[in-house]
Amino acid sequence: MSVDKVDFVPFSVPSIGKEEEDAVLNVIRSGWLTTGKITLEFERLFAEKLGAKFALAVNSATSGLILAMEALGIGKNSKILTTPYTFISTATAASHLGAQIEYADIEENSYSIDPAKIEEKLAKDSSIKAVVPVHIAGNPCNMKEICRVAKKYGVAVLEDCAHAFPSKTDDGFCGTLGDIGVFSFYATKTMTTAEGGMIVTNDEKLASRIKKMRLHGIDRDVWNRYTDKKASWLYDVVEPGFKCNLPDLLSAMGIEQLKKSDSFLEKRLAIIDQYNKAFSKYDAFILPPDGKGNAWHLYLLGLNFEKLSCTRDEFASELQKNGLGISMHFIPHYHFSLWEHNENLLGNLTKENGGFCAKNFPNCEKHFLRTVTLPLWPDMSEDMVEKVIDVVIQTGKKYAK
Ligand SMILES: Cc1ncc(COP(=O)(O)O)c(C=O)c1O
Repeated sequence: MSVDKVDFVPFSVPSIGKEEEDAVLNVIRSGWLTTGKITLEFERLFAEKLGAKFALAVNSATSGLILAMEALGIGKNSKILTTPYTFISTATAASHLGAQIEYADIEENSYSIDPAKIEEKLAKDSSIKAVVPVHIAGNPCNMKEICRVAKKYGVAVLEDCAHAFPSKTDDGFCGTLGDIGVFSFYATKTMTTAEGGMIVTNDEKLASRIKKMRLHGIDRDVWNRYTDKKASWLYDVVEPGFKCNLPDLLSAMGIEQLKKSDSFLEKRLAIIDQYNKAFSKYDAFILPPDGKGNAWHLYLLGLNFEKLSCTRDEFASELQKNGLGISMHFIPHYHFSLWEHNENLLGNLTKENGGFCAKNFPNCEKHFLRTVTLPLWPDMSEDMVEKVIDVVIQTGKKYAK
C-alpha cells in the first residue's frame, strides 16, 4: 500500500492528451475558430454514436436545456416537471422562457425522479407540458415508465443527460429515449470541451427550430455565409433567437474526447469496481444504485447513520482533511434562497399549500443528508484509488457506532 505517496486526490481531472492539443492547435492555425465544419463533424459523430437522427452542438447544457424547452413550446402559462435533486439549471432553464417549475420527489432507493410521483402531478395539472428526468451520476432513470406516463398525459419528455454520456438502456442510449436529450461537456463531465453541450433528437421539427434559435434566429448556418457560392451577406432573421453555438475550437477537442469515450468508460468501471468491492464489506456505507448501463460520471457514496455516529458534513470534512477532493450532488433546490423572492417561478408549491421545503420531498432530503461524492476520473492512479478507499474506510472506522 502506497497511499502515503499521494498527498491529495483531486475530485476530477480531465483526461486531455496530445490528440486534443493537436486538434485544437490545428483549428487555431486554420484561420476558422468559430462554428464551422469541425463542429458539423462533431455533431455527425455524436449522432452516429448514439444512433440519433440529429445532434446539435451548443455552448453548454444549460443553453441546450433552454433551447430544447423553447422548441417544445415551453413558455408563459406552461410548466415543466422535474426533481429538486439536480443542478439548478435543469429547472431555471424553464424560468428564462417565462414558464413555471413543478417538482416531484425522487425514488426511495435511487436518485431518479419517481414515475409514480410524475403521474400524480400530471393527473392534477394540465399546464405541465414537459417532464425533465435527470440521469443523476449517469444512472439511467426508469425511462420506460416515464415515457409511458408522459404519453398517457400527452406531455413531452426532455432527458437531462448532463451526466449520462454514454448511459445505455435496453431501448438505446439515454438522450434518445424521450423526445429530446441534452448532454454537457463541462470540464468535469465524462467527456469535455471545457464548456459545451449537445442536443439530440429524432424529431426533425425540433431540430430545425433549435438550429435557428441557437444562432440569433437566422435562417442559415452562419459559417455557410462565408463559404457558400451564394451571396455571403444574405440572410433572414425569422425569430428572436439566442447565441448558443459551439465554436470549432472546442468541437475539435470534443471529437478527440468522443473517440476516447469507450476507453474512458472502461477506466471508470474499473475504479467503480474497486470502490464497490471495498465499501460493500462495511455496513456503514450504502453503495450507489447499480443501474445497468450507467456511464458512472459520479460515485455517490451513501452513509448509513445507523452505524455511524457523525453527520454527513463531519464525515465529508474528515475526508477533506485527509486529502480527498470531494463534492456533494446535489443540494436539493428547496434549500436555495432563490425562492424567497421568486416564488412566482414555482408551480403549485407555494407557501399556502405546504411550501417548497424538505418535508414535501422526503427522499430527496434523505439522500442529500447521507451522500458524499468521491473522486472519480479515468486517469486516477492506482495509488490514488487506494488512497480514496483507505481514507473512506478509516473515516468509517473513526465514526463507527
Ligand atoms: C444535471 C445537470 N444538468 C445540467 C447541467 C448544466 O450543464 P452545463 O454546465 O454544461 O450548462 C449540469 C451541470 O453540472 C448538471 O449537473
